[in-house]
Amino acid sequence: MGRMLIQAGMDLNINFSILDPDAQAPCHQLAPFTQGKLTDYQTVLDFGKDCDLITIEIENVNVAALKELVRLGKKVYPQPEVIELIQDKRTQKQFYQTNNIPTAEFILTNNKEDVQKHAAFLPAVNKLGKEGYDGRGVQILRNQSDLEKAFDAPGLVEKLVDFEKEISVIVARSENGEVVTFPAAEMVFHPEANLVEYLFAPAQLTPNIVKEADRIARDVIQKLNMTGLLAVEMFVTKDQKVLVNEVAPRPHNSGHQTIEANITSQYEQHLRAILNLPLGDTSSIMPSAMVNLLGEEGYSGLAKYEGLEEVLKVPGVYVHFYGKKLTKPFRKMGHVTITDTNIESLKAKAHLVKNTLKIIA
Ligand SMILES: Nc1ncnc2c1ncn2[C@@H]1O[C@H](COP(=O)(O)OP(=O)(O)OP(=O)(O)O)[C@@H](O)[C@H]1O
Ligand SMILES: [Mg+2]
Repeated sequence: MGRMLIQAGMDLNINFSILDPDAQAPCHQLAPFTQGKLTDYQTVLDFGKDCDLITIEIENVNVAALKELVRLGKKVYPQPEVIELIQDKRTQKQFYQTNNIPTAEFILTNNKEDVQKHAAFLPAVNKLGKEGYDGRGVQILRNQSDLEKAFDAPGLVEKLVDFEKEISVIVARSENGEVVTFPAAEMVFHPEANLVEYLFAPAQLTPNIVKEADRIARDVIQKLNMTGLLAVEMFVTKDQKVLVNEVAPRPHNSGHQTIEANITSQYEQHLRAILNLPLGDTSSIMPSAMVNLLGEEGYSGLAKYEGLEEVLKVPGVYVHFYGKKLTKPFRKMGHVTITDTNIESLKAKAHLVKNTLKIIA
């Protein structure tokens, strides 16, 4: 994300400095780089003191340090209070509830024993409050025997939603309150890795659902009073309701394709929002698909790219590698955007990319 944010910022003459725990982070060679823990108070504070404006591309950052930076007169977008609220799925869900934002019914839980009291609430999804990421803090509890594996930490149980689709609407709000949404994208998940496998945009939805999802995304960012870019992940249920699953206050996996497929990319839009510039036109130029490039199962070590030439021959295929030297199973190594005016050939090309371009070691 940082790499693509910097890419978008170059054309606007923005000078970046980077803080990342990984010395080999995908953006480490693109701008002055500090290696350090994002969760460490002093590290974040010291880093931020030399910046005019601080932003994030991952939520797991020391919020106390960000608050101190605001107190010292720095601009921090998204606001530390918003990051704090979103860091915990429990406070996030409570926020939706108190603000009348449609979301699946839930019960807060403190530990395993607590979850096990709610057998009558099954089938449900058990989520960790904090530090779940890429599906790691999420598990389905279908029946009584699944209660055995309940998380033994503060979290929640949420009704299992029988959804028809999972969609995402990315919305931006600038410092002066201008709000602009992107067309919804539609996600298809990898059954084992619990990562987005394919994505299609604009999502194929009825006009009513399009309107409702757009309304909800605007409502969430306004009620959060947030400046920046917010990805609103939603379920479209089989009875045509739209429910918010969770939000991410930053550029998002569901917006990669906007680099090629929309007039303004999500990365540029994020920068426009936090720099209080006019927000860009988000219109879709062409239907698009996005395929995440995950490290192939069974391979760990120095990454090798198989099938690159074959996919580059296909018109409308845009490869983005993230510059990660080492691969391991399901590691996000890059993504590919595919565009086509015809939906059927778009899907065929997406499958071709998925089956041809492999990251092995
Ligand atoms: N209540 C629910 N009913 C049905 N499926 C759900 C529910 N909650 C989550 N899921 C499924 O689990 C996936 C991961 O859940 P969620 O987005 O809350 O977790 P996450 O750890 O933040 O994942 P990621 O980082 O990949 O977004 C969802 O995208 C969805 O497919
Ligand atoms: Mg999610």
